[in-house]
Amino acid sequence: MSMVVTEPCFGCKHTDCVVVCPADCFYEGESMLFIHPDECIDCGACVPECPPQAIFYEDDVPEPWRDYIALNREMAPLCPNITEKKAPLQ
Ligand code: F3S
Repeated sequence: MSMVVTEPCFGCKHTDCVVVCPADCFYEGESMLFIHPDECIDCGACVPECPPQAIFYEDDVPEPWRDYIALNREMAPLCPNITEKKAPLQ
């Protein structure tokens, strides 16, 4: 199990989530962030920090966004780690 970053993050990247993550498991793609599922400890600290509510427990990801579970697993290892807040895209 892992937390998963979904659609509302796309084009936003508020990055409020990264500063509360005790496992430093966020990775930055060009348009959105991804959580490395093998590093996430399921603490859920990031969930209430995300303004557009993009982060869900894997089992709770809404049906239209289920593909983001595999996308996080696929993309996190390919992107640089991010642990500090930066200006959002919008
Ligand atoms: Fe994205 Fe929300 Fe984090 S918009 S960068 S998941 S705070």
